[in-house]
Amino acid sequence: MLGSALVECCAANHVVCAASRRQGLSLPGVEWTLFDLTETAAVKRWLSASRPDVVIHNAAMVSVDGCEREPHAAAWLHSEVVNLLAEETRRNNASLVYISTDSVFNGRAAAPYGEDAEPHPLNVYATTKHAGEQATLAEGGLVLRTNIFGWSPTPRLSFAEWVLKGLVSGERLTMFTDVHYTPIHVHHLAGLLLEALQLSLRGVFHAGGSTVLSKHAFALRLAQAFGLDPAPIVATSIDAGGLVAERPKNMALSTTRLATALGHVLPDVDQGIARFKWEYDSGWLARLKQGTPGPGYRFWEAHA
Ligand SMILES: NC(=O)c1ccc[n+]([C@@H]2O[C@H](COP(=O)([O-])OP(=O)(O)OC[C@H]3O[C@@H](n4cnc5c(N)ncnc54)[C@H](OP(=O)(O)O)[C@@H]3O)[C@@H](O)[C@H]2O)c1
Repeated sequence: MLGSALVECCAANHVVCAASRRQGLSLPGVEWTLFDLTETAAVKRWLSASRPDVVIHNAAMVSVDGCEREPHAAAWLHSEVVNLLAEETRRNNASLVYISTDSVFNGRAAAPYGEDAEPHPLNVYATTKHAGEQATLAEGGLVLRTNIFGWSPTPRLSFAEWVLKGLVSGERLTMFTDVHYTPIHVHHLAGLLLEALQLSLRGVFHAGGSTVLSKHAFALRLAQAFGLDPAPIVATSIDAGGLVAERPKNMALSTTRLATALGHVLPDVDQGIARFKWEYDSGWLARLKQGTPGPGYRFWEAHA
């Protein structure tokens, strides 16, 4: 999801060598190489062939419960591979950027987390992402902690798409009222990342949106923006159970440090949802999903 937004934003002014296990957003000037980041030889081959000025490590196992089941794979992808990337960035004097998560905190603080707050990861996903941060910082890199929303280029639905699908189909959507976060639209985050690179920022920055809200409130705002009946949204607590890995309740990030460095406030959730809606209305989504270009693409039919 974020990878495709990064590819699109970067391709406007840079040569982009994108790597993943399957083809993402296809654009002129973007060269995709498909391999598994767990294959050391393939990673080395790709790095020495592309000789990047900037490496952005964005790939992740985003299923928190999946990471509990496969902790070694999570540790490799989120942390060990950073050392491999760093070998090359060091050699070429290139910059290293690591996309991290608000989940590195245990969520017990009352206020949004600043960059100086001590991480206390609660699960394998968060522990391995925190280890990846440490490896990046040891190389003098840039770590952006975030929580994102947008359209996924793959058949796997993003959280926002899953909410929309439930609203359209009338499936019951249990939404947590006690999990608070600061989501940012993927294209907004990609733009901030480019600004941060232009300013040669290094260290940890919180790159969330400027609105703190619950998952439940986010779902209601999506329903309102798309003119959908919010009736399927049912308020619940994360304590109601059903999740394998423990998760934080307060995931909100204070973005003051990044806003100060960039000299402007970060986008709020309504700006992000407006962009998300525009991507649907304008036909951008259809191109992302590689369907028929032009307005009228119905994501919920495609994912029925
Ligand atoms: N989604 C969120 O709400 C959220 C919140 C906080 C932080 N983040 C961070 O933001 C970043 C982007 O997340 P996202 O939601 O955009 O994730 P995503 O849509 O799941 O994309 C992750 C990408 O990583 C690729 N990948 C996974 N394992 C790989 C491997 N072994 N080798 C090569 N590629 C591999 C996936 O390829 P396949 O399609 O083949 O699996 C996928 O293209 C991640 O670093 C994540 O930790 C996300």
